[in-house]
Order: sequence, then C-alpha cells, then structure tokens
Amino acid sequence: MKAVMVSSFGSADVLDLVELADPCPGPGQVLISVQAAGVGFMDVMVRNGTYPQLTEPGVVPGAEVAGIVTAVGDGVGQEWLGRRVFALTVSSGYAELVTVGVDHVVALPEAISAPDAVALGVNALVASLGLKRVAVQPGERVLVRGAGGGIGMMAAQLATAAGAEVTAITSTPQRVDRLRQLGVAHVLDRRAGQDGGDSSYDVVIDPVGGAEITRYIELLRPNGRFLSCGAAGGVPGPDAFAGLLTTFHNSPTVFAFNVSSVGPGAIATEFADLLRRTADGALRVVVDTELPLSEVVKAHTLLESGTVFGKLVLVP
Ligand SMILES: NC(=O)c1ccc[n+]([C@@H]2O[C@H](COP(=O)([O-])OP(=O)(O)OC[C@H]3O[C@@H](n4cnc5c(N)ncnc54)[C@H](OP(=O)(O)O)[C@@H]3O)[C@@H](O)[C@H]2O)c1
Repeated sequence: MKAVMVSSFGSADVLDLVELADPCPGPGQVLISVQAAGVGFMDVMVRNGTYPQLTEPGVVPGAEVAGIVTAVGDGVGQEWLGRRVFALTVSSGYAELVTVGVDHVVALPEAISAPDAVALGVNALVASLGLKRVAVQPGERVLVRGAGGGIGMMAAQLATAAGAEVTAITSTPQRVDRLRQLGVAHVLDRRAGQDGGDSSYDVVIDPVGGAEITRYIELLRPNGRFLSCGAAGGVPGPDAFAGLLTTFHNSPTVFAFNVSSVGPGAIATEFADLLRRTADGALRVVVDTELPLSEVVKAHTLLESGTVFGKLVLVP
C-alpha cells in the first residue's frame, strides 16, 4: 500500500510517500480501506517529534480515518465486512489501508461522506465531550476562542445548539461572516482588537492556550468554568493559571480535557450522536480542501499557514 512516512522529525517536507506492506487485521481488529484521512495538529506534533506517545521516527501520521472495512480479524463478526466506518487511530491514518480495533470503529450513515466524517472527527468529539465536561446550560454565556479552527467551529455550533449565548473569537472579517452563517450569535475579530474582554462569561472554551489564558480565566463569572483543550497559540507558561488566584472570590474551575482520556465505548456513542445530528442538518461540517496523499506536504504547509477554515482531508 501507499502511505506517508515520517522517517526523521522536522518540517512538512520530511513527509514522504512510500510503499509499505499491506497490514493484516489481528484478533479483534478490522482492516479499513481508507477513503479519507483527517489532517490535524496532532499529526504536526507526530511529524515534528513532540507528540508524547510517539517519540521515535518511522511512524505514519494520521489520527482519524473513514473508509470501508475490507477484512476482519479473529473474533470480529463478518457483518462488519463492506461497512463504511469512521475510526480514531492516533497514528497510521495517512495510508491506503489501516488496521484498528473494532471497538474503535463507528458505522457511518448513508448521508455522511467519508470527508465529512473526518471533518466532524476528533474536532467535534473534543468540542462535544468538552462542553459536557463543563456542563454548559441553556442561557449561559459561552466564549469560544479559536472559533475559525476545527475545534472552535464545532464548539461554537454545539454550544449554540445547547441554548447558550455564544460569543466566538476569530481572526478575519471573512471568518466572522462564515461563523455567522453557521448560526453563531456574536462573532468577534481579534485582529480588529475585539478580544471579548468587555464582557464576562459562564464558560470559556479554549483550544488556543498561550499566555492569554490568565486574562480569559479572569473574565469568568462567579462559578464559571474554563476548558483548556488545545494550544494552537502556544503552550501556556507556568504562570498561566494565576487567574485562578486573582479571581478566587468567583470560585472558578479550570478543566484540562483531551479525548485520549475517554474510552472507546463513550467515543463511539458520542460520535454516533454527532453523525445523527450532522445527517439531520443540525450540525454543519466544513471541509476546506481535499488533497491526494501525494500532496501531503502541501496539506501540512496549508495547515500551519493559519489560513484553513474547516478540515483538510487527504483522499488516498
Ligand atoms: N483536547 C484534545 O483532545 C485535542 C484533540 C485534537 C487537537 N487538539 C489541539 O487543539 C488545538 C486546536 O486544534 P484545532 O484543530 O482546532 O486547530 P486549528 O484548526 O488550527 O484552529 C486553531 C485556531 O486557533 C486560532 N489561533 C491560532 N493561533 C492563535 C493565536 N496566536 N492567538 C489566538 N488565536 C489563535 C485560530 O483561529 P481564528 O483564526 O478563528 O482566530 C486557529 O484557526 C491544537 O493545539 C491541537 O493540537 C486537542
């Protein structure tokens, strides 16, 4: 099969399209013929050697795939054969074939294409499970940072659907318009100096991180919750959570959330629900660009340029 290999860690041009032996499904696994592989920041970390669980080169990136089950291992029912599925894979997704435990696999409804499934993918899971973690209630004021990004775009839509009054921060007038078209009530352009600082919030959803975390914790209302779920703007320094002490009188809570802490059963249940809501039109997915595996360097270069709105998808 064709696959993308990281033979040495570095910038996008270390990504090489190579021929590898076809994988065989082991006990409890299915073999997926990949129709779409999501491109995300986790893959960038795998590529540059900063992903904590994959510290040796010689790895195929790709944390999420959609495709067709073409073989099953011992202990897996034949009914899986021929099914269109989605799976979180951590790595290995940038390939024509991938094996994954059947408990990590979710069947796709007819209405959802493979690119749309990976565009929903890990971003929607982080947003949806993260909003549950902070227990967003109807009528609460929710601030979403990085709303033009994969996680933020989903969080802004899902919080709106949960009945919250959502303010989303993005970075260009075009992104402001596109987020409004997705139904988000208040959208701010941070590059025009609109940073949400003139108000207060019950919940802040933060896939951005960076040094500004302290200031956003300080914008929480009494009993407010701050969800740290990414670091697209940089890893926060040791003083980032000082806002917890300066606003102690408000009883703020900070949650750190990563989907890798959630078991496969809960992921599958959540993703099936997200698929249903997407098929019903209640949740909208945005695919920015589809590229062949051979254009993986371009895909990573685009991802890191900060110009992508929605998901980049590799189509083997
Ligand atoms: N918690 C988890 O389980 C989990 C899972 C997957 C990924 N992640 C992490 O979550 C983070 C976001 O992922 P993503 O897929 O949403 O990334 P993304 O699509 O690149 O979105 C990040 C967004 O953050 C905003 N941003 C970037 N740099 C910024 C800065 N310096 N200041 C303010 N805003 C900035 C931009 O949005 P605007 O243009 O709208 O301002 C950008 O689109 C990454 O660090 C990723 O590794 C976490």
